[in-house]
Formats: sequence, structure tokens, C-alpha cells
Amino acid sequence: MTAKTLLTTVAALALTATAAMADGETIGFSQIGSESGWRAAETTLTRNQAEERGYQLQFSDAQQKQENQIAAIRSFIAQGVDAILLAPVVATGWDSVLAEAKEAEIPVVLLDRQVDSSDDMYLTAVGSNLVHEGEVAGQWLVDNVGDEECRIVELQGTTGSSPAIDRKTGFENAIKDHANLEIVRSQTGDFTRAQGKEVMESFLQAENGGQDICALYAHNDDMAVGAIQAIKEAGLKPGEDILIVSIDGVPDIFQAMAAGEANATVELTPNMAGPAFDALEAYWADGTEPEKFIQTESKLYTQADDPAGEYEARKGLGY
Ligand code: AHR
Repeated sequence: MTAKTLLTTVAALALTATAAMADGETIGFSQIGSESGWRAAETTLTRNQAEERGYQLQFSDAQQKQENQIAAIRSFIAQGVDAILLAPVVATGWDSVLAEAKEAEIPVVLLDRQVDSSDDMYLTAVGSNLVHEGEVAGQWLVDNVGDEECRIVELQGTTGSSPAIDRKTGFENAIKDHANLEIVRSQTGDFTRAQGKEVMESFLQAENGGQDICALYAHNDDMAVGAIQAIKEAGLKPGEDILIVSIDGVPDIFQAMAAGEANATVELTPNMAGPAFDALEAYWADGTEPEKFIQTESKLYTQADDPAGEYEARKGLGY
């Protein structure tokens, strides 16, 4: 091949690649909002994955409102997108809009939360076993409290969301045969740091300035981080006077663990988009139907698991 032919071939390949990028599938992503560090990381990773794969990502932030998500999905359907990613804020109320997407033959992939609609209304769901996460958190407490009386306060996630429902169930499963462990107060903190702090302040006030609380179980790390602040302001030592166990594995909780102010977290990977896009690509290629549930790993980290190193490893990842 002459130099001229080689250059022409390279130029032609470059043009084809550009055309492929420009023709990349359009994906609508209805995200819940930005209530937690974990969610921010999921958004960042989804954007990165979409860019790497040459997709056009239409991103819609629902600001925690289901009606905004439903409107976004209808708009994606009207635009004729090739697929829809949906992180559903709550579990109920999706039947009609999912039926509309199905009617338009647009595959929907659920990210990180479940819905109570029939599973033939969506292509697949990528997420963790949310009940198991709660069980792991509860088992950590069982193993670390021993026979002592332990009054637990619980910060729940968004009311009606599948992680709030399932993480509660899992935790209760783990402690149910241990009469010395009791959830004495339980309220939603809506998965946010600000509400985690506010609700923890009310728990501390109601429980003898916190003297009567042995442990906090928070459905996510951000609420735990807010609660840690409240505990410190009340003059107590989080991680010692009040044990702290939560879920997500965000950098800030590893920092708190490194400082001895939190005890354990169950990691939830924010990379839901990777498996979702793999499933969509196989489906587009030859109609391969994925499993209805693609399960991500859940891993327990404690103060013994090099939290400072885990913080360093995660701090630049978009949390
Ligand atoms: O659905 C996953 C949960 O939603 C995460 O644990 C929490 O941080 C988020 O907001």
C-alpha cells in the first residue's frame, strides 16, 4: 500500500468512526435528583459511560418528584429515543408510563431501585439486593453488640422508595431473634445529609441527649454523615458512644470511619450504567433478552478495612 492510499484509508476510517458517533443511539435518562453523594456518582458514571460508547444521553433531573419523571419519560417517548434509563424515586405508580414506552417499543432499564409493576413492562433492572444490604448492616450490629441492651435509632430513606422499604426489612430480619436489640425510633431523612442531621437532632433530644441510644442505622451514608455532625454537636462521640452503620460506601463515610466516627458501611456500586448498556447492546444486536434482574455486589467495610485507603481510592470518582 502506498503512503497516499494509506492516508486515504485512514481518512475514510476516521469519517466512518465520526459517522458512527454521530449516529450513536439516543438514551433518555430519568434520574431522581441529587439527594446523595452516591447519586451524584451514579450520574457522573452514566454520563461517562454514555460518552465512551458514543451515545447521545438526554439527561433529566426529576428533583425527587415522580411526576417530573413521568413527564420526562413521555418526552423521551415523543422524541423516539432508542432506550430509557429510569432510576425510579418510588416503587408504585409506573404502570401507565411503562405501558406507553412498551407500546412505543422503547426498552426501559431500571437503575438501582425497583418498581412494583409487572416485569414484562421493562427490559431489565440493574441493582443490588436491597434486603440483603439491610441484613448485612443488621448482622454487623448483632455481631458487635453481643448481649448488651442496644436501643437503635433508624434513619429511613425516601418514603415509598424500594431501598427504604427493603433496607428496613433486611435490617429487621437480622435483629429479630436478638431481644437485646430494639429499634426505638425510626423516621425518614429522605436520603439527604441535611435531613439526616435534623432528624438525628430530634432523636438525640428525645433519647436523653443521646445517652439512651446505642446505635444508629442509616439507610444511606449521607444521612449518617449528617447524623454524625448532630451527635458531635450534642457532645457525644459518634462511632464510640453511638455506633454507626449505614449503606453506600461514599468517600465521606470512609473518611468518618478513618477518624473513628463511623463503624461500618455496605457498599453499593454507582456503576449501574455499565451493566445496563451491556444489556442494551446485546438486545439491540440480536434481540437477546437479559435476565430481569442484573445484580450488583454488596460488600461490607469496617474500620479494619483501611478506610483511609478506600477514601483515597474513591474521592475523585464523582461522588
Ligand atoms: O437507590 C439507591 C439509594 O438512593 C442510595 O443508597 C442513596 O444514597 C440514594 O439516594
